[in-house]
Formats: sequence, C-alpha cells, structure tokens
Amino acid sequence: MTSSPLSSPSSVPSSSSSSQSSAAEPLLSVRDLRVVIDGLHILHGVDLDVAPAGVTALLGRNGAGKTTTVKAVMGLVPRTGRIRLAGAELSSLPAHLVVRHGIGYAPEDRGIFAGLTVAENLRLAERGAPGGGGAGEPDYALVHELFPELKQRAGQLAGTLSGGQQQMVAIGRTLLNRNRLIIADEPTKGLAPKIVAEVAEVLARAAEAVPVLLVEQNLALVRRLAGTCAVLVDGRTAHRGDTAELLADEEAARRLLGVGSRHPLAGGLRSAASPAAPAITAEVKP
Ligand SMILES: Nc1ncnc2c1ncn2[C@@H]1O[C@H](COP(=O)(O)OP(=O)(O)O)[C@@H](O)[C@H]1O
Ligand SMILES: [Mg+2]
Repeated sequence: MTSSPLSSPSSVPSSSSSSQSSAAEPLLSVRDLRVVIDGLHILHGVDLDVAPAGVTALLGRNGAGKTTTVKAVMGLVPRTGRIRLAGAELSSLPAHLVVRHGIGYAPEDRGIFAGLTVAENLRLAERGAPGGGGAGEPDYALVHELFPELKQRAGQLAGTLSGGQQQMVAIGRTLLNRNRLIIADEPTKGLAPKIVAEVAEVLARAAEAVPVLLVEQNLALVRRLAGTCAVLVDGRTAHRGDTAELLADEEAARRLLGVGSRHPLAGGLRSAASPAAPAITAEVKP
C-alpha cells in the first residue's frame, strides 16, 4: 500500500480560515518552555505549535535542545511553561499521566527490545487502561493496515530487522494506543539513504492516521513531509512558520540550521529555492 506524500499544510498560522477555525487550532501548543538540569539552563523559551493533521517539524542544529524539548513535553525532565494538548494542560503532569492524554513517543534510540519478537515488542506497548488517552482495545488493525510487514514478521526478533523495519516497530507502537499525537525523535538518525526513504514512507503513512511532531536533521525529508516547523537555536525558538518557505530561503536556512553552501543538503535546498525566495513570515524574537 503506497500512499502519496503528505503535503497538506492546512494550518499555516498566518492564513487561518474562518470556515475551518477549529481545524486551525494547534493540537499541541507549547509556550515559554524552560528546562534547567543540574543548574544548567538547557531550554529558555521554547514556543511550538503542532498542527492538528500531518507532520510538524522541530528543527535545529545538534545540541539546540530538540530532544530536551520533547522530553520536557513528555514529562521526562523537570520543566516550566505551558504545554497544552487538545485543551488539556500537561506542564505539571508526570510522564505516566502525560502518555494517558494520548501522546505516543518514539525516542531517539528507538527503544525497542532487540531480543524480543515484533509481536512481543508491540504487546509490551499496549496501554489499554480505562481512561487512558487511547482508551479501549489496542488498535492492531490500524498498525497492521499501515505496516503489513509487522504482521508478516510478528515472530521475528526485533534486533534482526532492518533499520527501517525497526522504525516501523517504534512508530507502530505509538499507533497502537489510539494516541492523539505521535512524537518521533530523529527517526532517520544513522540510517543509510535507502532506509531513510523507507522511514519517510513509514512516517507519511503514520501521519495519515495521527498528527506527528517530527524531530529531524534530514532537511530533504522534512521538506517532503512537514507543512510547518519550529526551529530551535541555543535552547529557544528562533523561527516558526511554513517549512517550504524556510528551506527555500538560503540565508535563513544557513543562519538557523547551519546549512552552508558546502553542506551536502545545500544542493537540494537550492534546487527547491525559487529565485525570489519569500521572506520569513514568523520570526520569533526572544
Ligand atoms: N541531562 C543533561 N545534563 C546536562 N546537559 C544536558 C542534558 N541533556 C541535554 N543536555 C545539553 O543540552 C543541550 C541540548 O541537548 P539536546 O536536547 O539533546 O539537543 P538536540 O536534541 O537538539 O541535539 C546540549 O548542549 C546537551 O549537551
Ligand atoms: Mg536530539
């Protein structure tokens, strides 16, 4: 089952339509998120809106604070600020209650059990508790519809899967519990280009069912999948807006993401840029 790439930036912030005002509401809204660990100010002012459909990207150079941001949303590190998911305030909740509001998290290292089978990995992820964010039975039908390979490979040890198949397990697990939002932290990190293309397909399929917040360094993938994005620089939000506009603006991409003329992605960036690159519409000054 191949689906067309998602390209539905239906919620560009500056052009919200009145006819779909509820659809334009962000699903997840983060404001002034701050994290201090061992006296170190890791985040000092992260603002982020996740669109209610499709993929929203969280971008930034290494060390900018992306992983800390998603851990703070999940309640895995102490934080202050506002974190609202579909109207519910999460910022004072511990991780086990955050997940019950319906956030599925695929962490940076995937967190799958190599010595367990695909089926066992999925079974361990079942939440299914009454009142949980994904109340009810685990949705194996959805997981197997999106990723039929996981059904075929149910008995295979997860450690013997390819990188792309392991990401299917990691993302499949987040789909099992009828979550409202999936957060995937650098799902293509360390993968060969061919596998990156597979993972892109995995993410596109997942995002047809559930909105995704994608932390990603691969800008070609981001450009293909994400309608809107936020960019972190040194622990705070430096830019929010339309992904295609940002990546078409070489100066902004260089300044915010460190993509220079000698960067391997620069060629791809330039080919997508129009001669008159549009101005950034949503600078967020600290
Ligand atoms: N537990 C921690 N203790 C000390 N410093 C940390 C901790 N976690 C992250 N950092 C630092 O915070 C910064 C942001 O890290 P991280 O959120 O992992 O960035 P990114 O995911 O964007 O690469 C880095 O400088 C990192 O070294
Ligand atoms: Mg990270």
